[in-house]
Amino acid sequence: MASQEKVLSVNHLVINFKTDNGILKAVRDISFDLNRGETLCIVGESGSGKSVTSKAIMGILANNAIIENGNIMYRGENLLEVSEDEFYKIRGHKIGMIFQDPLSSLNPIVRIGKQITEAMLINSDKLKLMYNDLISDDLIRYKNTLSKMNIEIAGEKRKLEAFLSQLAAKENVSAEEKAADKKAAKEKKLAFQEFEKKTRAQYEKKAKELKAVLEETEKKAKRQVKEYKEKATAEHKARLAELEKQRAAASGSEKENIQKQIEAEKLEYTNKLKLTKAEAKRRALAIMREVGIPEPERRYKQYPFEFSGGMRQRIVIAIALTASPEILICDEPTTALDVTIQAQILELINKIKAERNLSCIFITHDLGVVANMADRVAVMYAGKIVEYGTAEEIFYDPKHPYTWALLSSIPDVDSKEKLEAIPGTPPNMIYPPKGDAFAARSRYAMNIDYREEPPMFKVSDTHYAATWLLDPHAPKVEMPKIVSERIRISLEEDAQGEQGAY
Ligand SMILES: Nc1ncnc2c1ncn2[C@@H]1O[C@H](COP(=O)(O)OP(=O)(O)OP(=O)(O)O)[C@@H](O)[C@H]1O
Ligand SMILES: [Mg+2]
Repeated sequence: MASQEKVLSVNHLVINFKTDNGILKAVRDISFDLNRGETLCIVGESGSGKSVTSKAIMGILANNAIIENGNIMYRGENLLEVSEDEFYKIRGHKIGMIFQDPLSSLNPIVRIGKQITEAMLINSDKLKLMYNDLISDDLIRYKNTLSKMNIEIAGEKRKLEAFLSQLAAKENVSAEEKAADKKAAKEKKLAFQEFEKKTRAQYEKKAKELKAVLEETEKKAKRQVKEYKEKATAEHKARLAELEKQRAAASGSEKENIQKQIEAEKLEYTNKLKLTKAEAKRRALAIMREVGIPEPERRYKQYPFEFSGGMRQRIVIAIALTASPEILICDEPTTALDVTIQAQILELINKIKAERNLSCIFITHDLGVVANMADRVAVMYAGKIVEYGTAEEIFYDPKHPYTWALLSSIPDVDSKEKLEAIPGTPPNMIYPPKGDAFAARSRYAMNIDYREEPPMFKVSDTHYAATWLLDPHAPKVEMPKIVSERIRISLEEDAQGEQGAY
């Protein structure tokens, strides 16, 4: 069961791309949390910004991306601020990702087995891992303070900028008013500077203390690692000397037997210090079994082209699992697969998620898939989250016209026929529309939708939607019949004890 403990938190993320035709606004101020053990589905049409969001979390955005604003907090660290190196040092890669096209994430000319063990062997120095583990909590605490400081300052700065642009946008202002505004602007700027100075001083003091703690921990960790190594080496040497003495005194099969013990002892010693190829292979085979690859020993030596699409996706999942991730991001992992295989992979992801207690971000354009996976759902349109809530809230009490449109376009479970395609096309994100970006395609659009961006209206503690329809002054509008009918039928089926598969 999902808890309320946040494992990942995205705040006010804004991502643009430089293109030949201008600045493309791919992600426009999105915020969401991922709770431990839950699956959060991000759903939306092509181009709504789903993959850009997931790539930002993984730190693999294209070179022309500009992160304009926001942070992605993981274990107290802002992932947008740490270098890849640092991130690795802190925890290893605890966030795994599975992409849409398994072929593109596999190397076609490297055997499957090697591709699985490769990632493990990069980090094969067990002493180093031990050291990183010993210092990681203090390292995070130290880094955390600096991130927090930057976030607080950035938040205050955003408020200041909003205030200033509000003043700048005013029309028909008298000279008197202008002077007053200027004064107010100056005061706000000064107040911000004061705030920044104070905040910095405060956090820097704290950071200094934590740095001292960290340095202590580092010293201790070095000592511990050294002691571990010395102890293992001393034990190994003693045991080896003992065995060699026995070997000298023995003969025949006895001697052979002792020789075997010597080899085993040497291997064990190596395994204490580093992850060996043999051990990596053992682990890889175990993970291949876990993701349902039959005959893993034979498959281990094969190349990607010898695998079917579904099996390839299982391998990609296996690779993601070798790092023992805490968070798994799946970006349309089943889109390239046919329906039966798709169902198997979804089932596999659900199984692994439960067994390993993973937290999962699952990206898809298919609400049918969402229904099978999600604890919570975020609906994205034109670079924004327009509605989010629990799966139940989104399926049984949707509020945004875009969510209605998505729900109307799910193929019927029985007829498999798409009921209503969403009219029109997504906007050009170099010139995103003003107001509610979906207005031009929505038959529920009101005048205000073309002028002003709707805020997130609260529907319940867990359910929010950005549509002016939720404004107390808005006319009362019912969701489309096709959606309410489906909900009614689904609820009836539920009441009859059937699976409400929607
Ligand atoms: N490197 C890039 N340069 C310019 N524009 C980009 C780049 N990467 C993505 N975009 C644009 O950013 C927007 C969001 O793209 P994104 O890939 O996140 O969409 P998506 O929601 O994942 O869609 P799909 O369902 O097709 O995968 C799109 O308009 C896309 O064209
Ligand atoms: Mg995508």
